[in-house]
Amino acid sequence: MDIELLKKLYSYPVYGYSIVDSTNKIALDMAKSGVVHGSLIVADSQTSGRGRHGRSFFSPKGGIYMSIVLDMNPQFAGEITTLCAVAVCLAASKLLNIELKIKWVNDCLYENKKVCGILCEGLPQMGKCVAGIGVNINREEFPSDINEKAGSIYIGDNEREELCAYIANYVINGTKNIPNHMAEYKKRLITLNKKVFFTYKGENTHGIAIDVDNTGALIVETETRRIRLISGEVSVRV
Ligand code: BTN
Repeated sequence: MDIELLKKLYSYPVYGYSIVDSTNKIALDMAKSGVVHGSLIVADSQTSGRGRHGRSFFSPKGGIYMSIVLDMNPQFAGEITTLCAVAVCLAASKLLNIELKIKWVNDCLYENKKVCGILCEGLPQMGKCVAGIGVNINREEFPSDINEKAGSIYIGDNEREELCAYIANYVINGTKNIPNHMAEYKKRLITLNKKVFFTYKGENTHGIAIDVDNTGALIVETETRRIRLISGEVSVRV
């Protein structure tokens, strides 16, 4: 990543690295030591990229790995996650002319393959959180355990910085206007009106996803009742 170019495109502090364990971890450490709202941490690769539900995120050189420090209470993690998903979709649409879809809550898909993951982590005592976004770029092959589901978007020279800046700018501006991004989120969401399988309070069950509320929770109707699923607490299969 050309950090000098990125700094011209984004008006908050930018910290660039070639290799880190996790940009989210660095961003959380920086947040603790008081970096300003909007600070952006980017890396060319990660050795321990963090995914949701304790999983790892495949982060070889070539992808975009970025984390934004936000002076926002982690209780807004759902809103921030949906905002980041919209940011990635709009960046791809405006800069690359490709349309991504969203699989609840945080996966951006291109041609039905996951090309982006989002992980929001928080420091509740400090009222801060970190929005981490990883995008697979120009990659044909993935490790066998994710090869079936993972995909990539393709970009040319110089588009990396533009993409990263577009995403970061959209997120930082969008935090002031939550939940205005939700219309765009729902437009791209493939999970709506589908049968979803999930574990709720220790029980495997299923229902039809009928809506997403402004906090990013999925509203599901089972045969007997309506349930509000919070992403951190369930894993959903469509
Ligand atoms: C997921 O889909 O499970 C979420 C993946 C989030 C990956 C990004 S890459 C940048 C940031 N740093 C991390 O360690 N994770 C997030």
